[in-house]
Amino acid sequence: MRNIKTICLYILLFCTAVTASARDRQLFDDGWLFLLSDSAQMAQPDYGDAHWRSLKLPHDWAVEGNFSVDNPSGAGGGALPGGIGWYRKHFHISGNMESPSHRYYIQFDGVYMNSTVYVNGHQVGFRPYGYSTFEYDITPFVHFGADNVIAVRVDNSDQPNSRWYSGCGIYRHVWLTEKECPLRIAHWGTFVTTDGNGKVQIETRLSAPSDVTLPQFSQLKIHACIYDGSNNLVAEANSNSLKSILLALSKPLKVGVTVRHPHLWSVEHPYLYRVKVELIADGQVIDTETTTTGFRHFRFDAKTGFWLNGKNMKINGVCMHHDLGCLGAALYEDALHRQLLRLKEMGANAIRCSHNPPSPELLNMCDSMGFIVMDESFDMWRRRKTKNDYARFFDQWHERDLTDLVLRDRNHPSVMMWSIGNEVLEQWSSADADTLSLAQANLILNAGHDASQLAHDTVMSVNSLLTRHLCEIVRRYDTTRPITAGCNETSPDNHLFKSGALDIIGFNYHRHDIKDVPKNFPGKPFLMSESVSALQTRGYYMMPSDSIYRAPKEWWLPYTDPSYKCSAYDNMHASWSSTHEQTWDVVKHTPYCCGQFIWTGFDYLGEPTPYGYPARSSYFGIIDLAGFPKDIYYMYQSEWTAKMVLHLFPHWNWLPGQNIDMWCYYSHADEVELFINGKSQGVRRKSVAPSSPYHALWHVVFEPGEVKVVSRLHGKKIAQ
Ligand code: GAL
Repeated sequence: MRNIKTICLYILLFCTAVTASARDRQLFDDGWLFLLSDSAQMAQPDYGDAHWRSLKLPHDWAVEGNFSVDNPSGAGGGALPGGIGWYRKHFHISGNMESPSHRYYIQFDGVYMNSTVYVNGHQVGFRPYGYSTFEYDITPFVHFGADNVIAVRVDNSDQPNSRWYSGCGIYRHVWLTEKECPLRIAHWGTFVTTDGNGKVQIETRLSAPSDVTLPQFSQLKIHACIYDGSNNLVAEANSNSLKSILLALSKPLKVGVTVRHPHLWSVEHPYLYRVKVELIADGQVIDTETTTTGFRHFRFDAKTGFWLNGKNMKINGVCMHHDLGCLGAALYEDALHRQLLRLKEMGANAIRCSHNPPSPELLNMCDSMGFIVMDESFDMWRRRKTKNDYARFFDQWHERDLTDLVLRDRNHPSVMMWSIGNEVLEQWSSADADTLSLAQANLILNAGHDASQLAHDTVMSVNSLLTRHLCEIVRRYDTTRPITAGCNETSPDNHLFKSGALDIIGFNYHRHDIKDVPKNFPGKPFLMSESVSALQTRGYYMMPSDSIYRAPKEWWLPYTDPSYKCSAYDNMHASWSSTHEQTWDVVKHTPYCCGQFIWTGFDYLGEPTPYGYPARSSYFGIIDLAGFPKDIYYMYQSEWTAKMVLHLFPHWNWLPGQNIDMWCYYSHADEVELFINGKSQGVRRKSVAPSSPYHALWHVVFEPGEVKVVSRLHGKKIAQ
């Protein structure tokens, strides 16, 4: 039954992705050819590609390679190969030169990285940032009624350029859109805003290419229809009619409409509506665009934390990188959906897209599954963290990339905040990581910086001005959501905070500084933009379990252990971080803390802190690389859901006589009792020693046989 439900949901999600688009948009994933090699000739239409491998996108060539210490991405980047690869596709464009008004647009949801696109040998565009979605108008280069060749060069040869596994290639979907008329609804040109009372405002920008004479229209307007979750038309309205195309191109057309008694979008009931926008010229529909929307109102409050639809709640979020474990970075909806299902079942209600624009499908799923999203743009600005990262493109490309992120994602009801950066080095006056290895750079980000590196009272520094500038770009396109940044410098003299431009103060780690937030940032809402970074290998336990293991002890020290494992009791973390229980305890009991984004929901390829190669995937996940929950998953489930939880660990395969610590996460009960071969080991209650407020603990001696735990409420057994 659950499988059928899952499949139906998946179909729904995928359809949402497909229909949230222009009428004539098609997937362009099939029939590509690929070669991991480089030659300028490969752009040419008649290049001999008969021997190339044929494949269907999305595709990640790095994960097909071998792990090696010699790969320049390093263990931090997943120890997989980079290089330069080419993709080619032969396709036919129907029509003929008698209908030259048809326009063709190609959209790449994500190509890692440095992609150059050619159509029939003409360069159409270059895009360095591997996480941006971009569209090209290929009409001037296509042959109507004939065969065409599109070629894409993907250059991920300059390594390292990422602190985690990025993948290589056209790893997200590609779309081809055909428009009948050159005057169109601009790409991402529709902006839908709602409130909790059913009011909908729709702004639609039009665009037209400069290389054609536009047809003349005497009347242009927008017609907007709103459909509920069962596809019933629930509201419709028209914009004013305009008499001139020039006027219509100069400012957005606006429609206001009200849905009576709207269903609200919430994390428990993520009710979605569909907005269809038609561009009507002299009574003819010449373009259509459909997008999803939802009614919700939320606020981040400096005293009381986060409110959604009038309900005070914690953001119980996780950070996620974009890879799908052994599947690599290629986007597979099933695998992504499985990740989100697991997280939802744990009780997570929020995702931080760390530290870059996510796939559109992730946001569609967050819309329909009920996750709040922190949509993040960059891991670095002008100062690099790895030798060849995006910092080298930032000056030229940040405005375009940030603009495109906001334009693309601002209609998603799940998106409730923008992040303009993660732990950017501009927090300090000077903190170059240029000369460090990837591992050292990762570590130094979380080390202390002295006061001389902070902002001075009277001067607005370049870094503060840059913060303002980035916030100003976001606000140009969306003023309905607050802006934050993940900061690991918690002083109010952090250049980013000092700019005054951030709406939400976001701390990464530093839970001890949370108590000073109201004093240091009066009137500002506060969120743990990133937290925990505990280290765990599923099924591996280091005892005594009530000792905390820091790995490494200090950020500048190496850490080794021949096991290459970390402890799955919640008793091991990086030097800058904490255990899950320590962090949750602060978040839970601090009313002004809006919530947290735990590092991380799932393990990911790369960043194998605290180890180096041959380790090459993370230990931070609550769920491991293959999708199996580690024990801590059940602590969150016991705190965040109404499910009955009774989870006893570790396993029961030890040596006779060995001292073993047994932990138990439970809920709905007021006591638990442990039995070994029928003999009671004592009753435990949370918060009573040796137990913690979140788990029960017994020190026992192993003997082969049966171990059993029973939970009771008011003396009555409720689970075993
Ligand atoms: C943070 C950083 C993350 C990850 C994490 C590991 O400082 O934002 O990307 O590196 O540390 O603990």
